[in-house]
Amino acid sequence: MFEYAPAPESRAVVDIRPSYRLFVGGEWTDSQGGTAHKTVNPASEEALSEVVWATEADVDRAVGAARKAFGVWSALPGSERAKYLFRIARIIQERSRELAVLETLDNGKPIRESRDVDLPLVAAHFFYYAGWADKLGHAGYGPDPRPLGVAGQIIPWNFPLLMLAWKIAPALACGNTVVLKPAETTPLTALLFAEICQQADLPPGVVNIVTGAGETGAALVNHPDVNKIAFTGSTEVGRQIARSVAGSGKRLTLELGGKAANIVFDDAALDQAVEGVVNGIFFNQGHVCCAGSRLLVQESVAEELLEALKRRLTTLRLGDPLDKNTDIGAINSAAQLAKIRELSEAGEAEGAERWSPACPLPERGYWFPPTIFTGVAQSHRIAREEVFGPVLSVLTFRTPAEAVEKANNTPYGLSAGVWTEKGSRILWMADRLRAGVVWANTFNRFDPTSPFGGYKESGYGREGGRHGLEAYLDV
Ligand code: NAI
Ligand code: MG
Repeated sequence: MFEYAPAPESRAVVDIRPSYRLFVGGEWTDSQGGTAHKTVNPASEEALSEVVWATEADVDRAVGAARKAFGVWSALPGSERAKYLFRIARIIQERSRELAVLETLDNGKPIRESRDVDLPLVAAHFFYYAGWADKLGHAGYGPDPRPLGVAGQIIPWNFPLLMLAWKIAPALACGNTVVLKPAETTPLTALLFAEICQQADLPPGVVNIVTGAGETGAALVNHPDVNKIAFTGSTEVGRQIARSVAGSGKRLTLELGGKAANIVFDDAALDQAVEGVVNGIFFNQGHVCCAGSRLLVQESVAEELLEALKRRLTTLRLGDPLDKNTDIGAINSAAQLAKIRELSEAGEAEGAERWSPACPLPERGYWFPPTIFTGVAQSHRIAREEVFGPVLSVLTFRTPAEAVEKANNTPYGLSAGVWTEKGSRILWMADRLRAGVVWANTFNRFDPTSPFGGYKESGYGREGGRHGLEAYLDV
């Protein structure tokens, strides 16, 4: 182990206003009766800015603006809509340093990740769907598929700008207009995106951004003039939304939680598998719906793998998310930290063995050390519930059939990972794992051309790829 000199990214590259209004009809507008709330940097608990929590009246105005814009936007030829989307994608690339710093400040994720993963994927998503806008007739949904209308989109705090891109890019490419609500703890990059829409001369009302918490989200879900709801977040809220939307004729896609198995066979390249396991659960502090939170390792290599894994964890650097050497940033909120602590304590109480490397935590801010639980039984809460933090549960298996059985023994079905040298075994496993995405000898890899989504309680509908168009077309 050697020391690294601090290498902080400059926060001066981004201007944060002291307060923000709502972005409706292409302009910044005052809320009707909404209260102001601080958004904080979770690494320091310092207030970054104030945003307003939009009321039902605000949401109504935003939906009205989107409805008005729908006529114009949906009537444009696809090639014209594509020009706007390409322009937005290019501006995102030009301003990516600013966006990455802002994302890291508001969310707590390491700058290395916002800079090298989130922002490149955000731009790639806009480029990809810009390319579809004039080719919808060739997407397999009929010769002239029509948009749905106004889309209400509600996103979480773990990948704020990336989830915005996943929602807005396909919606606009297909000719819909949107009202998007970012999460209450991470509103700032969506508000900067609103500025980018202005910079790109996007027609007013095509994109509207309303900040707020659950009540604002519920107002959007329940608005009678919304044609489609797209939600990413907790299974509990997803269920509520499904109930509210039932029978209303609104279209719905849900991307909810996960409890993915990352399965390591005895013939796998163990050093590579260790990197994949680390990336699977400690990337983005484990705030990842498709995180590999259950490590299933074949009994014969379990000891060797765990030893290597623990050694690797002692080299992870936790601390200032703006430092370019940081591997593990801050937990996004006090509430999420409390949830991670509670589930970890339950893990110990139920008899699993807890391990973390020596890891001094900063005094201010929300932090949790990388943590491994061994001796985990399938009945333990940490094996069944989504922790959504840097906590790995380790289970073992003897045969491929047992691995499949254990991997599928979950109410979720979003993703899974398989580590083995045998191609035939990868295919055999992929056929049997009930998960929307199965990664082989890698994990947490994303590409805009590839559909993403879940089975069972992980939700329904697909985002990304040609499949992602279906959610925004009247097919
Ligand atoms: P959440 O589901 O409450 O929040 C997600 C979004 O939904 C936010 O924008 C929130 O304001 C909005 N929302 C909340 N209540 C709503 C309602 N009744 N109607 C409409 N919109 C509503 O998730 P939360 O509380 O932030 O996290 C709780 C747990 O959910 C996490 O610990 C994690 O396990 C899971 N989660 C999963 C995510 C995923 O990517 N699948 C993302 C975020 C959380
Ligand atoms: Mg909540």
